Formats: sequence, structure tokens, C-alpha cells
Amino acid sequence: MSLVNTHIVLETKRFFLRELTLNDEDFLYEVLSDPLTMQYYPSPKNREETRQWLDRALGQYRESGHWLWAVCSRATGDPVGQCGLIHQVVNGQSKLEIGYLIARRYWGRGYATEAAIACREYAFKILQRPQVISLIHPDNLASRRVAEKVGMTLESEILWRERQVSACCYTVRNPQLTTGSR
Ligand SMILES: CC(C)(COP(=O)(O)OP(=O)(O)OC[C@H]1O[C@@H](n2cnc3c(N)ncnc32)[C@H](O)[C@@H]1OP(=O)(O)O)[C@@H](O)C(=O)NCCC(=O)NCCS
Repeated sequence: MSLVNTHIVLETKRFFLRELTLNDEDFLYEVLSDPLTMQYYPSPKNREETRQWLDRALGQYRESGHWLWAVCSRATGDPVGQCGLIHQVVNGQSKLEIGYLIARRYWGRGYATEAAIACREYAFKILQRPQVISLIHPDNLASRRVAEKVGMTLESEILWRERQVSACCYTVRNPQLTTGSR
């Protein structure tokens, strides 16, 4: 495993979260081209769309310092999925969303929950955000369960304008901060 020039952002018991790099294209393609993994997204991604996803990640790291990060096994260094913090606009308000996608072969091992809890803590302790959300397709029960395990509760159902679908808006507030709604 080579971690030279790798920007590690977070560590958990089983994982480190690092910025995606151009070397992750094949792994990303495995995840993003899988129809089951992408069933609640507009569509699975082809190679070109995978590269656009990666470009977006690299741009967002430069602009805001965060987006989806690679979730990597501490034991092997290999990526198992993505999890991170994404800017969203909900009903005209700027929000920070915890997003997660795990490669299908690793589902059901608590990976998304472990990574998402670390991202929640990063948003609260490092970024000092008063709350974080997750926007989830109502039928995506696995994702809704992850949100619950991260301590989130269902706050509202909204029309997600970017995708023109309804989405459940799960929220958890920062216990260290009592006011504000960013
Ligand atoms: C959602 C996703 C990230 C979960 O990853 P994961 O690592 O398997 O999640 P975890 O193991 O931490 O937790 C999954 C939970 O959902 C539950 N679950 C899984 N499928 C379920 C279903 N069909 N109905 C209800 N609960 C379900 C699991 O039992 C587990 O809960 P438990 O610990 O109480 O038993 C993964 O399925 C995925 O990548 N899906 C495709 C991308 C996606 O939809 N991302 C979310 C976009 S909002």
C-alpha cells in the first residue's frame, strides 16, 4: 500500500478516509456502474461519467476541503466505498449532507455506519456545523437505517430539485451548539 501524497482526512477503528485520486477511477467505476448500487440515483455511470464524478470530487476538495472521500481498509489500504460531506441546498437553505456509497461486495458489515459517524463528528468538531442532514430516497431502507444509526431523525420529506424526486430529509443536531440552522 502506498500512501505517498495521500491526504488522509479521518480515521476510524477499521478505516481511514482519504481524498479520492485519479488512481481511484477503476474502483469508482465498479461502484458507480453497478445498477443495484445506483438504483436510487438517476442512473448507473459509464466511464466518462465516472471521470466527471472524480473531477467533481477534486474540484470540491479544492473549493471547500470536503466532498465524498474514499473509505479505505486500515488492514489492506484498499478502498471499500465512499463517504463524506457534500453541500446541498434544501428549500433555499445551504446544508451539509453526509453521503455514503459502499461497494456491493462489502454491504451489511457496518461499514457505511462507521464511516458516516466519523463524518458526523468531523462536521461537528472540526467544521463546527450546527447540524448535518442526509437526503434519502424513501424506498432506500438500508440508507435510512444507516441514517438512524448515525443518530439522525426524519425531519421532513422534500422535493429534491436537482434530481426532481422526493427525498426524506434526516437530520442530527450538534449537541455542542444550540443555535443556528446552517
Ligand atoms: C446504503 C449503504 C451505503 C449501506 O452500506 P452498509 O455498509 O451495508 O451499511 P451498514 O452495514 O452500516 O448498515 C446497513 C443497515 O441497513 C439494514 N438494511 C439493509 N438492507 C435493508 C433493507 N432492505 N431494509 C431494511 N434495512 C436494511 C442492515 O440490516 C443494517 O442495519 P442493522 O445494522 O440495524 O442490521 C449501501 O447499501 C449502499 O452503498 N447502497 C447504494 C448507494 C446508496 O444508496 N447510498 C445512499 C444514498 S442516500
